[in-house]
Amino acid sequence: MKEAGLTARTRRVREIPLTRDVITDRLRELERGRSIPSSWYLDAGVLEMEKCTLFRPAWHYVGHTEQVHEPGRFFTCSVMDAELVVAHGADGKVRAFRNVCRHRGARVVRESCGKRNTFQCHYHAWTYALDGSLRAAPRSDREPGFRCDDFPLHQVAVDSWGPFLFVNLERKPEPLTAALGTLPERVAEVGIDVERMRFHTRVEYDLACDWKVAIENFLECYHCAVAHPEFSRLLNVDPASYRTVDSGGRFTTQRAPVRSAAVPEEEGWEVRNGQYHVLWPGMKLNIHPGHPNLSIGPVFPTGVGRSFGYLDYFFGEGVAKEWIQERLAFDDRVGREDTELIESVQAGLSSDTEEGSGRLFLASEDVIAAFHRHILESFRAEVSSSAGSGPG
Ligand code: FES
Ligand SMILES: [Fe+2]
Repeated sequence: MKEAGLTARTRRVREIPLTRDVITDRLRELERGRSIPSSWYLDAGVLEMEKCTLFRPAWHYVGHTEQVHEPGRFFTCSVMDAELVVAHGADGKVRAFRNVCRHRGARVVRESCGKRNTFQCHYHAWTYALDGSLRAAPRSDREPGFRCDDFPLHQVAVDSWGPFLFVNLERKPEPLTAALGTLPERVAEVGIDVERMRFHTRVEYDLACDWKVAIENFLECYHCAVAHPEFSRLLNVDPASYRTVDSGGRFTTQRAPVRSAAVPEEEGWEVRNGQYHVLWPGMKLNIHPGHPNLSIGPVFPTGVGRSFGYLDYFFGEGVAKEWIQERLAFDDRVGREDTELIESVQAGLSSDTEEGSGRLFLASEDVIAAFHRHILESFRAEVSSSAGSGPG
């Protein structure tokens, strides 16, 4: 009887078949400019598939090295539903752990950041060293055969690019350098030395839309002239000047030259082009024209039709406070314009009663097509490997 309360639409999307044939068909349709179906933005099964095939194997930006600059410094963070702690050990090494006590699963570290010699769980006081090893568990002497060595915090891979810290939830991930590909060179070529960038602030946001809607909006500037007048006065968003590049299945780049009329004569702007990247599946990296500046951060799904993201803003040493405030306010205004657009898309997709799929303009939205191809190829690899690992 519970089923009777569901709309026809809900019943249908709960049964989306993600078979090899369906995925191959979607890839073919994509070549003709057909986007993935609207139901894929509304479905828990598709979301699980995305978490498993796209997010789980990826390196995720979680913070910066300044947060763990000396032994004892730590911070907590989340990668979707995985809660983690990143800590600088007494031996000088930075490690990341699941923030889950090996006794009965309580959160071991409850503060967002700080400095400690050990981590003590607040439930039964199991105490861990900064390298994750279990140092003491009250009453363990009464448990025959119990060995602290058998219960360290579960370690997670962590690595850095310049000041940017990344984690990976896979047991044996590919190296971070492989995942980044040529992204560091791209960033360097616009005049940004990441080693000289200093963290300024983090801006967090919740979105009433599927994470893919948020990323797709970021992947084209077809909407810029219409929806972002201020952004379009700063950057040349005409199709002949605004370039989008799919960088070999790792990340995408959009480049746009600054409009000369937007450059104040009295200020020597070191960065003359905007660069906007997405590292699959959902890490954004933005560089605006002006003084050295960069923002970086993820978009994660938090549920069906919901997502969460943040941007960490970095600026070059010596960049004036007033200019920084101006850029943050500029980004806030553009961000609000985008939020309205993408939440409108989600509302539209949710009310679509037909099995719809959008029509991508491949000359202007080629990078959205690359994003969909990446999703479909990841799904196909997963479906193929599941089929191959069956009984028999
Ligand atoms: S759950 Fe952590 S000590 Fe019991
Ligand atoms: Fe936008």
